[in-house]
Amino acid sequence: MKTTTLTKIMAAACAMTFAVGLTACGSDTPAPPPPPSSDAPPATSTGNTGSSAMGAWDKNGDGIIVVGFAQTGSESGWRTANTQSFKDYFIPANGFDLKFGDANGDDATQKAQVRDFISQGAEVIVIQPLSNDGWEPVLKEAKDAGIPVINSDRRLQGLDQYYEFFFGSDMRGEGDRAVAWLEGYIAANNLSNSDIKIIHLQGQMGSDAQAGRTEGLEAGVQKNGWTILKQQTGEFARDKGQAAMAAILSSVQPTDFTVVWGENDDMVYGAIDAMTAVGLDPKDYIVISFDGNKSAVQMVKDGIIDAIAECNPLLGEQVGKLILRASQGEKIPSPTFSQEEVIDSTNVDAKLPIAFGS
Ligand code: AHR
Repeated sequence: MKTTTLTKIMAAACAMTFAVGLTACGSDTPAPPPPPSSDAPPATSTGNTGSSAMGAWDKNGDGIIVVGFAQTGSESGWRTANTQSFKDYFIPANGFDLKFGDANGDDATQKAQVRDFISQGAEVIVIQPLSNDGWEPVLKEAKDAGIPVINSDRRLQGLDQYYEFFFGSDMRGEGDRAVAWLEGYIAANNLSNSDIKIIHLQGQMGSDAQAGRTEGLEAGVQKNGWTILKQQTGEFARDKGQAAMAAILSSVQPTDFTVVWGENDDMVYGAIDAMTAVGLDPKDYIVISFDGNKSAVQMVKDGIIDAIAECNPLLGEQVGKLILRASQGEKIPSPTFSQEEVIDSTNVDAKLPIAFGS
């Protein structure tokens, strides 16, 4: 039988009662948090136009913009959907020739691939950075070569002067929305902040996606007096998330924690694998995830995951259309964030049919 999210936290809280002497078994489902806002200014035109119908960024005027695309790798379902969205849109029929760079999870490889794009004469470079570190020299080289750089997916913090615009996710906003959801859940169910003992599976350390989501959680912990019991990276991958969770579970008791905060769906799948392997039912815990793959959204429907802070991977067409506008001389607002919200039991029926991936 499907266990509702409410039943789940009541069960967890009541279980905690025996361990720490608290009583909290309320009712009601929390409202989802408000949608994000963009701090981007409105678009304006710089008035410059290009040498061909494709605009100024089609430097050789052949009607096709050669785009070097620096992708992180293929660590997650999100990444698979994201890569496909670029491959689908960046085609000659839309005015693009996509050169795909797969960094395979390696920072140095990704920077070398961007340098290759520069030396091979890419007309535009799109960077979806693995981490935030060490980019300035590479970005300077692109600038010196006169190649426009677009930053997508994870924002390169503090380096705005080197790219034309950022389009992607507000990762700190995602963390804040997940915290707001948990605060609402606690209030709606008459829980105590002292009930909140978190196992925190972090994404790839140093990436904007990990840093923003972790900062959001840590601010929530600070504000509300929650406890982070354990914190370990699972590098955004299912197998590493499973291994991290298994190691953590070998050093804690089932009643020591009430919340699993996994910084993407794949690590949460791994954490659930590890929990079930030792006889724990994830439905007895509050499980919070990020992204919104179809199977994870189905798990919300099934009461296994309680909330997912959405992260939209389908950036290809939007980034491509912005490049075309910028190439025609339009100043693109930056940063521009995807519109994302939290998926929980209150909106899962609307979200499931439109979820990405499998
Ligand atoms: O940058 C987006 C993050 O990277 C997604 O949350 C994760 O699944 C991916 O690997």
